[in-house]
Amino acid sequence: MSLKGKHIVLGICGGIAAYKSVSLLRLFVKAGAEVQVVITPSGKEFITPVTLSSLSQKPVVSEFFTANTGEWHSHVQIGLWADAMVIAPATACSMGKMATGIADNMLVTTYLSMRAPVFAAPAMDFDMMIHPSTQRNLKQLEADGVKIIEPESGELASGLSGRGRMAEPETIFKTVEDYFANKEELKGKQVLITAGPTYERIDPVRFIGNFSTGKMGYAIAEEAANRGAEVVLVSGPTSLVAKHPGIKTIKVESARQMLEACREYFDNSDICIMSAAVADYAPSCVMEKKIKRERDDIDEIKLVKNPDIAATLGKEKQDGQIMVGFALETDHAKENGESKLRRKNLDMIVVNSLEDAGAGFGTDTNKIDILFADTRPALHFPLKSKTEVAKDILNTIQTLSPLQ
Ligand code: CTP
Repeated sequence: MSLKGKHIVLGICGGIAAYKSVSLLRLFVKAGAEVQVVITPSGKEFITPVTLSSLSQKPVVSEFFTANTGEWHSHVQIGLWADAMVIAPATACSMGKMATGIADNMLVTTYLSMRAPVFAAPAMDFDMMIHPSTQRNLKQLEADGVKIIEPESGELASGLSGRGRMAEPETIFKTVEDYFANKEELKGKQVLITAGPTYERIDPVRFIGNFSTGKMGYAIAEEAANRGAEVVLVSGPTSLVAKHPGIKTIKVESARQMLEACREYFDNSDICIMSAAVADYAPSCVMEKKIKRERDDIDEIKLVKNPDIAATLGKEKQDGQIMVGFALETDHAKENGESKLRRKNLDMIVVNSLEDAGAGFGTDTNKIDILFADTRPALHFPLKSKTEVAKDILNTIQTLSPLQ
C-alpha cells in the first residue's frame, strides 16, 4: 500500500493508449490511492467512463456541468484535493492546450488549478512526437514544472514504429510511487551544489573553459529539491535552467566567483555536492581590450592556479556536514578518485571515466562508481540517465552517518 491515502487525479486524453490507463488506475487503487478520473470528451471515445468509475469507485468527471442536474464540477476543488495529477495518455492536442493555457475542457482547467505536482505521459505517433510544435510544447511544459514521463520506442497504433508509445503503466506507477517515497527524505536539509564549467577570462571576448554542460549537477539539484531539500545551486555558465521552486540558483563565471558564492552558504549547509568542472588555472591578468589579430604571435598567456573549492571547503568542514566530490578521469579512475577523496577531505566521491561510453560531459547518461572515506566498499552502477544517476547519488548520500 505504497500510496495509501494519496489523492491522485488521473487525467485521460483521447488517444489509443487510453486503454492502458485502466491498468494504471488499477495499480493506483491497489496501492491504496484514491483516484479521481478526469477525462477529455475525446478520451471517452476510447474508453468508457463506466469502466473507470467502477474501478475508481468515484464518478468520472468530464464536463463542467452534469447536463440533467446542472451540478457544477469544481476544477478548483479537485486541484486542492489532489496530491498529484497524472495525465496518461497526454496527447499532442492536450499538451498544446496545457502549454498555452487553453482551458476549454475539464482536464485542462483542472491542470491549471493544480497545486500538486503534475506528471504527463505523452503518447502519439512518431511524426507527431518529433514535430517542432510538439517539442516546443513539451519544453514549455517541462519549464512549467510538469514531470514528463518519457514515451518509449516501439510499434505504434498507426503501424509505424518509433518513439511515441506511452510508457507502460508499471513505469508510470513507479515514477509516481518513487516521487512520494523520496518526497520528504531531505526535508529541512540545506544542500549546496556546484555545477557546470567555469570560464576564466583572457580578454573581454575570450576565456579558458571546458566542455561541462552542468547536466549532472542540475539533475542532482532537481532530485534533492524533489526530496524536500532547500537547494543552493552555484552554477557556472550553462544554458540550463533549474525549474524546481526549492532551488536557488546563483550564476557565476569564474572559479573565484564560485568559491565566493559557496562560502556564503557553506556554513549553513548540511550537504555539499561539488559537481562543477572547475578550471584549475586562470590567466594571471585579463586584457582590458580584445587581443587583435594584427598582433604578432602571443608567446605566452601566463596562468595562475585557481583555488580548489572542494579542498578549501573540505578543510573547514564541521562534524555533521557531508562533502561529496566528483572525479572525471581519463585513466586510473579508481586511484585518482581515492587520492582526491583524501586530499579534499570528502566523505564520498563519484567517479566517472571518459573511457566508458556514455559517461562524461554533455551526454544525457552517466556511468558512475562511488568511493567512500570510511571502510565501506566501492559501489558500481551501470550506465543510466543522469536523472537516475542523481537518484543513486542521493540515495547513497542518505546512507552516510550524519543523515542516519
Ligand atoms: N574541484 C573544485 N575546485 C577546483 C578543482 C576541482 O572544487 N579548483 C572539485 C570538483 O568540483 C570535483 C573535485 O574537486 O568535485 C575533483 O575535480 P577534478 O577536476 O577531477 O580534480 P582536480 O583536483 O582538479 O585534479 P586534476 O584536474 O588534476 O585531475
